[in-house]
Amino acid sequence: MKTVITYGTFDLFHIGHLNLLKRAKSLGDKLIVAVSTDEFNAGKGKTTLMPFEHRVELLRSVRFVDEVIAETCWEQKITDVQRLGVDVFVIGDDWQGKFDFLQEFCEVVYLPRTDNISSTDLKKAIQVFMQLKRDFLD
Ligand code: CTP
Repeated sequence: MKTVITYGTFDLFHIGHLNLLKRAKSLGDKLIVAVSTDEFNAGKGKTTLMPFEHRVELLRSVRFVDEVIAETCWEQKITDVQRLGVDVFVIGDDWQGKFDFLQEFCEVVYLPRTDNISSTDLKKAIQVFMQLKRDFLD
C-alpha cells in the first residue's frame, strides 16, 4: 500500500486541480489531500471565495481522493508524513525545490501545472464579469 499526500487551497475547483489529483493518485494506492484552512490562508494574506468546509466537501467527492485533512500551518508536513505513513509527497511545479527537505522522510515529486488556469485567474474573471454587469446591466 503506497500512500501519497498533496497540499493546497483548491478554491473554485478547476481542471488544473483535477489533473493534479489524478496524476497524484496514479503514483500510489491512497491519496490524502491536505486543504488549507481559512485561518491559515488569512495568515498568508490569501482569501478564498469558497469557505474551507465547501472546499473539503468538493475534494471528498473526487474519486481520486481517499482522505481529506486540514492544513493549518507550514510546519505540519514532516509530522503528517510520519504519522500518516506517507510514501510520496506531490505538489505542482510552481513549488519546485521548496519541499526538498521532505526527501529525508519520503519521495518528493513536483508535477507540471496545467497551463492557463488558476483560482486567481478565475477570481479575476469573476470580478471583471461583476463589474461589467454593474456597468451595463444593473
Ligand atoms: N495546480 C496545477 N495546475 C494549475 C493550478 C494548480 O497543477 N493550473 C496545482 C498546484 O500546483 C497545487 C494544487 O494544484 O499543487 C493546488 O493549487 P492551488 O494553489 O489551490 O491552485 P491555484 O489554482 O494555483 O490557486 P492560486 O491561483 O490561488 O495560487
